[in-house]
Amino acid sequence: MISTDIKNICCIGAGYVGGPTMAVIADRCPSIQVNVVDLNENRIKDWNDSDLSKLPVYEPGLDDVVARARGRNLHFTTNIEESIANADMVFISVNTPTKIKGVGAGQASDLRWVEACARQVAQCSRGNTIVVEKSTLPVRTAEVIKSILSSPQRDNRNSGELKTFEVLSNPEFLAEGTAIVDLENPDRILIGGESESAVEALANIYLQWVPNEKILRTSLWSSELAKLTANAFLAQRISSINSVSALCEATGADVREVANAIGTDSRIGSKFLDSGPGFGGSCFKKDILNLAYLCRYFGLPEVAEYWENVVKLNNWQQARIAQLVVQKLFGTVATKKIAILGFAFKADTNDTRESPAIMIAKDLLEEGAEIAIYDPKVNNEQIKKCLALAENKEDLSQAYKTQDAMNSEGKWSYKNDVVSAISGADAIIILTEWNEFKSLNWESLAPLMRHPAWVFDARAVADKTAIRCAGLNIWRVGDGSK
Ligand code: UDX
Ligand code: ADP
Repeated sequence: MISTDIKNICCIGAGYVGGPTMAVIADRCPSIQVNVVDLNENRIKDWNDSDLSKLPVYEPGLDDVVARARGRNLHFTTNIEESIANADMVFISVNTPTKIKGVGAGQASDLRWVEACARQVAQCSRGNTIVVEKSTLPVRTAEVIKSILSSPQRDNRNSGELKTFEVLSNPEFLAEGTAIVDLENPDRILIGGESESAVEALANIYLQWVPNEKILRTSLWSSELAKLTANAFLAQRISSINSVSALCEATGADVREVANAIGTDSRIGSKFLDSGPGFGGSCFKKDILNLAYLCRYFGLPEVAEYWENVVKLNNWQQARIAQLVVQKLFGTVATKKIAILGFAFKADTNDTRESPAIMIAKDLLEEGAEIAIYDPKVNNEQIKKCLALAENKEDLSQAYKTQDAMNSEGKWSYKNDVVSAISGADAIIILTEWNEFKSLNWESLAPLMRHPAWVFDARAVADKTAIRCAGLNIWRVGDGSK
């Protein structure tokens, strides 16, 4: 019998989703013991660091939540087997990147980590266990998990008691940078499952701080598909507004005025209409490609193509910004110094997965530019990995070697602040909307550059008038006004 009163949770995967989500659950449910486990010993060590600025995930407010719950009922450990054995509920929150080889390469999600988790749960759990899919997964992954769990398992350590499992889908809708706010005050909680008691067991946890009307109960498949669809719709809005940004630049309109005018229509709504260098992050591209893969699999090529175009437009926006920089700098950036301000895929996170800065930097390096990169939260090592990975996604060790090859085209260096990044630069490209970049003192920065100098504001966050007054040329995304 499944108990609806959960006492012990194990979350497999201490990443951007598992870490913050479990921290909030532990904070809000002091009577539940929450163990977050990971194969990566360094990651667990960082989660346990007494210096909270060293947590492996940067999220505003996360340090306070961890400080309240860690050691009380929130534990980070590499002791995976024991944590699974003690748990009534196991969350699977591991990485599901797009496959790079084999069937579905470039589109389908690589489920090897999820499969490994399911096998480990099948092996180590005791008694009745509720398994919750937290990672974003392709539709019908629950079937994979179920079939691994369904072969009857004898529990050796528990006097031969039969193990039972229920599988739930509970996709996470938090956005990085606002994870804690999103977790503490979600628009909705989605729980998909067949067993009413298992669904209610999970609902009871959220009911500690989320009103019942915000908890949506659906079938497993609807829940899985809702997550992919939500991300596809959000990404589609960004590609739509970015397509209009190019038209605004060509015709003299301003995309922010257009966005504001359409956003006041309550049917359209004002959110997610900020034009920029294209969407990044671990979810949007992956989920759309997954959706497209599913559509093709189920014989719906037209639907697949429809969604694929959202990703194509996104790639185009990034390529067009790099081309535009070259064009404005008299058709060549070879040996010119370009400062990139912001490398994270959005502000308030240290995550760089699929960040537009990667492709834009890579394109400019290919043109021979000398790039100086500054980001308030992304370090040198991480940028190094990203730029190398952009060349060769398959093999990291190989990718590090390609760094030298790339440097023979152009060069990049890491800088600790804005002033050192822009000194002697011919151009500045703002790629992440960090607060710091909204209030730069252009009067004092402009003399440090080589003139004629440009500011390419791909997030439209800097003060356009102040930039002009300081004697700099400016290009702003979607701004066709003179
Ligand atoms: C997204 C979804 O929002 C979240 O619900 C899901 O759980 C995971 O994927 P995330 O990728 O963390 O979250 O951040 P989000 O705020 O959605 O931004 C994604 C990308 O879109 C960023 O690169 C951001 O800069 C870009 N974006 C967002 C825009 O370019 N314009 C906008 O108006 C909004
Ligand atoms: P997300 O953004 O979905 O949270 P991350 O890559 O940030 O993804 O985190 C996923 C975490 O899952 C990583 O820290 C990885 O080490 C961990 N992980 C992957 N497979 C396993 C496994 N079988 N057991 C334990 N941890 C795992």
